[in-house]
Amino acid sequence: MNKTAYITTPIYYPSGDPHVGSAYTSLAADVYSRAMRLNGVDTKFSTGTDEHGMKIQRSAEKENLSPQEYLDKMSARFRKLSPILNLSEHDFIRTTEERHKKAATAMWNKLVEGGFIYKGNYAGWYSVPDETYYTEEELVDGKSPDSGHPVEWVEEESYYLKLSAFGDKLLKYYEENPDFIQPTSRRNEVLSFVKSGLRDLAISRSSFSWGVPVPGDDKHVMYVWVDALTNYLSAIGWPDDEQWKKYWPAIHLVGKDILRFHAVYWPAMLMAAGVPLPKQVFAHGFLTAEGSKMSKSKGNVIDPQEMVNTYGQDQLRYYLMRDIQFGQDGDFSEERLVNRMNADLANDLGNLFQRVLSMVHKNCGGQVPDLKDVTADDKAFLSHVGEDLVKEYMTHIEKLDFNKALDTVWQIIRLANKYMDTQKPWMLKTTDTQRMGQILRVLMESFCHVSLLVEPFMPTSAAKLQKQIGFTNKTFANLTTETSLLETGATISKPEGVFMRWSNEEAA
Ligand code: ME8
Ligand code: MG
Repeated sequence: MNKTAYITTPIYYPSGDPHVGSAYTSLAADVYSRAMRLNGVDTKFSTGTDEHGMKIQRSAEKENLSPQEYLDKMSARFRKLSPILNLSEHDFIRTTEERHKKAATAMWNKLVEGGFIYKGNYAGWYSVPDETYYTEEELVDGKSPDSGHPVEWVEEESYYLKLSAFGDKLLKYYEENPDFIQPTSRRNEVLSFVKSGLRDLAISRSSFSWGVPVPGDDKHVMYVWVDALTNYLSAIGWPDDEQWKKYWPAIHLVGKDILRFHAVYWPAMLMAAGVPLPKQVFAHGFLTAEGSKMSKSKGNVIDPQEMVNTYGQDQLRYYLMRDIQFGQDGDFSEERLVNRMNADLANDLGNLFQRVLSMVHKNCGGQVPDLKDVTADDKAFLSHVGEDLVKEYMTHIEKLDFNKALDTVWQIIRLANKYMDTQKPWMLKTTDTQRMGQILRVLMESFCHVSLLVEPFMPTSAAKLQKQIGFTNKTFANLTTETSLLETGATISKPEGVFMRWSNEEAA
């Protein structure tokens, strides 16, 4: 594979348990990675935990643990998102790792060399839970405008990044690269923020010690964003390993809460350090739970493990990517998850496979029927599955429009159901078994396409579907209209349902 791609999630604060919000971003990065890989692109996917700062230091103290002991325990909970969600191969970066501290230190040194760092004094309001400093005007009722948490007054010596020097350069870059910040509505917010004028950014702290030391001044540690943002480079071996150039520039998936850091501060830092800018920063929306904001105090935080246990892993994956438009806010609703599970998965997709494969098993001696005398109807149906379908699907994936990518597949599933219903192979059981087999085979050919295109979203179920039809040739490049993908005469075993139907009796 010559082509490469690189997609990242934020590195999460490991101070709590992962919830459906962190699961959401990681899942999107996984779906993208899987689709790109099936499409022949060597794709690096990285995620991890953001482990420095005052909040970690205080949380560890509260539990009578050293910060590192505390972090090893907490970070492991985020690593578990991988088995919980079935994340494909990825790198998990922790900011307390040597490879990261090395990169963060190198970043700092480059900023110093460029003349973009100076020492000054910082005074302002700080919110520990948000790891953010606020000006007086930004506070809402004297509290954090982001979370409503109380703030504390901090005055200290601090190093500054000359962010103010980058306003015009950033605006020019945004203009020349209209897709750099997506979606467009979020892009506009960033544009007006930058247009309103950038102030220099305090990038070190001396009021706590749990962080990467500032080179040459041990009284200071780097403040969260210089440290945290650099993770995207440390994960690919920056600066000394030439490896980083293989994957950079990255696509950064973030929640809308941290867009500013990724779309303004980070590109400014990279410009200052002479590193090419990311390919894109995509801010997705926020999830609420059954209509209200998720919060620990309300006790309505959705636990991805619990959802997987109840409804199934692929069902959760499918629901999140299908029901909520990526880029917009959305609401997590178990009722809609169940509707999707029954209507889209059990009915549209599951039943179709089950009906066709049962007939092949019972009425065609359990062997893949021949594909010989394709009729005009067959051709018309099969013309919908092939290169063009993959192309359309990948266009949506590359735009991170997961919902539309799935929609292209469901259009085929609906066409297949319609083809089945108009061709009525069950009427031919005794009168024309040759034609009956032909119809079933045409459907099975379309199943190869469908089962491979749903794989990035539902890897385990897709593998089961592929096994049932004996489809092993697994890359998008094989999904053409020309070739038949199955072997005539191969044995088909008795099909078993892949998608469970949910009924409320089961819930009781
Ligand atoms: O901000 N809906 O970490 P964090 C959707 N360490 N996504 C959500 C969500 C919700 N309700 N809640 C959280 C940090 N997220 C920093 C990042 S990166 C260099 C440093 C997701 O633990 C979403 O991706 O607060 C959001 O941006 C991220 O979790 C915030 O994670
Ligand atoms: Mg946060």
